[in-house]
Amino acid sequence: MYKPIHNTLIIGKKLIYLPSCHSTNDIAAELVLNGLVEEGAVVITDNQTGGKGQRGTKWISEPSQNLMLSVILRPNFLPVAEQFLISQMVALAIYDYLSFYTNDVKIKWPNDIYISSKKVSGTLIENSIQGAAISSSVVGIGINMNQTVFETLRSTSLALEAGINVNLRQEFEKFAQVLDAGYLRLKSMKNNQMIRDLYLKNLYGYQKPVTFKYQNEKVIGVVTGIENNGRLLVKITGRPGIYDFGLKEIEWVWDELSTPFS
Ligand code: BTN
Repeated sequence: MYKPIHNTLIIGKKLIYLPSCHSTNDIAAELVLNGLVEEGAVVITDNQTGGKGQRGTKWISEPSQNLMLSVILRPNFLPVAEQFLISQMVALAIYDYLSFYTNDVKIKWPNDIYISSKKVSGTLIENSIQGAAISSSVVGIGINMNQTVFETLRSTSLALEAGINVNLRQEFEKFAQVLDAGYLRLKSMKNNQMIRDLYLKNLYGYQKPVTFKYQNEKVIGVVTGIENNGRLLVKITGRPGIYDFGLKEIEWVWDELSTPFS
């Protein structure tokens, strides 16, 4: 059971708690469509029967063990070309929140969060565009908290990494405060370069050699930056120039070279 948050300015003041649902992103999108909610409203659940991941994947989470929520934002102050700032701000909020408990947290482009080379959190952002602005954004966040057994070896949780078992309601409150601060910073539009710089600083592969799969070939590359539109800039060893990649155009490969999480 989750409760509305009182010590934030925007995030979580309105809370829709569902013990079980298909996907909090779908519920949030319906609320947006029906014009029924204010900015900052959060849909949160203990159990998702059809949790959605990026690129059409599923997000599977053990009931009552993890945070699964969707935040409704109305970032109409952001030009469409700047929408990646939402991803960057949210990734940084999750990064900051998890860093209270453990070191070795990294952002993996575009907005996965890893601890010690294993995924602890994923975000699915679904934006609605009106003209040149973003009229609404459903920010779906999954953070693995108390779950200790996973189907894949590349998944982890706060419990496994920090050795603690947490109270989900209290942790939601803490996380909402961090996200609230991040969103207010973004909304002020004064510190956008700082958001980009912090994101880069904590990005996996930034200025370090990591392995990618590109055009069916394993290549070594160094992330040199991120375009404002979110494309990843990579210098590939042995090839001239800098390549820029969109979401489906490059794959990360995890091998002995891909662990510079220091
Ligand atoms: C990913 O890494 O592939 C993104 C995962 C996003 C999962 C969250 S859980 C809450 C919200 N509702 C969903 O259906 N998905 C997001």
